[in-house]
Amino acid sequence: MFSDVRGLPLSGENPKAVETLDATINEFLASGRDTGPLLQSLDEADPTLLMGVCLRGYLMKMANLQEWNEKSFDSLERAKELSFAATKREQQHVDALEAWCAGNLRQTVRIWDHILTEYPRDILALRLSHNMHFFLGDIWRMRDSLARVLPNWDEGVDGYGFVLGCRCFALEEAGQYEEAEPIGRRAIDINENDIWAGHAVAHVLEMQGRRREGIDWITKYQEPWRKRGVFSKHLWWHRALHYLEFNDVEAVMNSFDKEFWAEPSEDNIDICNSSSMLMRLDIFGVNVKTRWETVAEIAMHRTKARLRPFDDLHFLMTLAMSERFVEADELLSSMQDFVANSDKEQVTLNGVYEVAAIPVGQALISYAKGDYDIVVEIMMEARYSMRVLGGSWAQRDVWVRMLIDSAIKSGRTKIAIGLLAERLAAQPSSGPSWQLYSKELGKVGATLEAENARLKGEGLLAQ
Ligand SMILES: [Fe+2]
Repeated sequence: MFSDVRGLPLSGENPKAVETLDATINEFLASGRDTGPLLQSLDEADPTLLMGVCLRGYLMKMANLQEWNEKSFDSLERAKELSFAATKREQQHVDALEAWCAGNLRQTVRIWDHILTEYPRDILALRLSHNMHFFLGDIWRMRDSLARVLPNWDEGVDGYGFVLGCRCFALEEAGQYEEAEPIGRRAIDINENDIWAGHAVAHVLEMQGRRREGIDWITKYQEPWRKRGVFSKHLWWHRALHYLEFNDVEAVMNSFDKEFWAEPSEDNIDICNSSSMLMRLDIFGVNVKTRWETVAEIAMHRTKARLRPFDDLHFLMTLAMSERFVEADELLSSMQDFVANSDKEQVTLNGVYEVAAIPVGQALISYAKGDYDIVVEIMMEARYSMRVLGGSWAQRDVWVRMLIDSAIKSGRTKIAIGLLAERLAAQPSSGPSWQLYSKELGKVGATLEAENARLKGEGLLAQ
């Protein structure tokens, strides 16, 4: 029996295929462009290598695209046919793929966590579990899952840096920034191509409002990261978030036009980056109508399949903000149909759509129509349910900004002041937030407090 590079037994007959499996997993962990071609080579080397078939099925699922999603069922069928000679671990991977194909995401991640209890160096289970916890907004499960396996890893084990990158990101999302940062920096010292680790450090800098450092961090590694796949554009999006906090709209637009939406893209992450930034610019009062159009042309073909609520809300946001209300309503109805027609116990996303995606979707349509009171009514409650949508705190913040803007535009000044005070308590270095706070305080006659806030914002923006 063969073993993978970390010593896990594999039922296979072809050493070349085992080697290619290791290389494909490694490329996947590094978000590399060659993951697809390597997967093809793996299939050519040995189409009967069970873990290769499972990997293919997993990667098809991860794309969250309807046409790829359908291919994952073919992989599942092949994996089941091959599983008569499987080890227990391999059989568990087949079971996980089956649960994923059935939409039972909680069962899927439970199986990966069972695998990790026995095989803490199963880096595929580890990374998939990490991604799924992130996908479901299970921040503490994501953090604890990494803590459980880490004692079984050290510098001598292949892939250690990737595990540190995941640990950094998990700690960051759990709000443990000081603990997270050195772990992520260590991962980058090990391998500067580890874009997920670099991204995790970028999140720490974003959440701590360390704007100049954030720009410098991404700029320092932009060349190695540019060679990674589509995920690199998400880093340029992160850098633009910093520009926005300096009120540097020109730099944001430049980054949009030349870096993260230089040309229309079918990739969901590109659509999310772009629509999310356009929404922020719109809230800032910038006219981005023609840019909305270019994203909407792609998003209008995503109204049918319900694969990821977080992505769906970005499609819906794009459709509503470009005034394609028929398509936006169609997408919202599709979410409602999904909830009505799927098994709540078995299909994990049923509850996610119900408690979070549908209310936020309704708020987005209301915002685009100028019904700001309705947005406030919905979002004051719904924002506390948004974590289950997955994505990061930094990404979901776009909908908190929408709520604040709606409170301002609907004249609910005291609510706006409260929300801004809340925001500043979390991010006291946000110049634009101090400016908004000052304006709202001025509306209720709090002249001295408004002037102090104005000066504070001015000072921060001048840094
Ligand atoms: Fe991010």
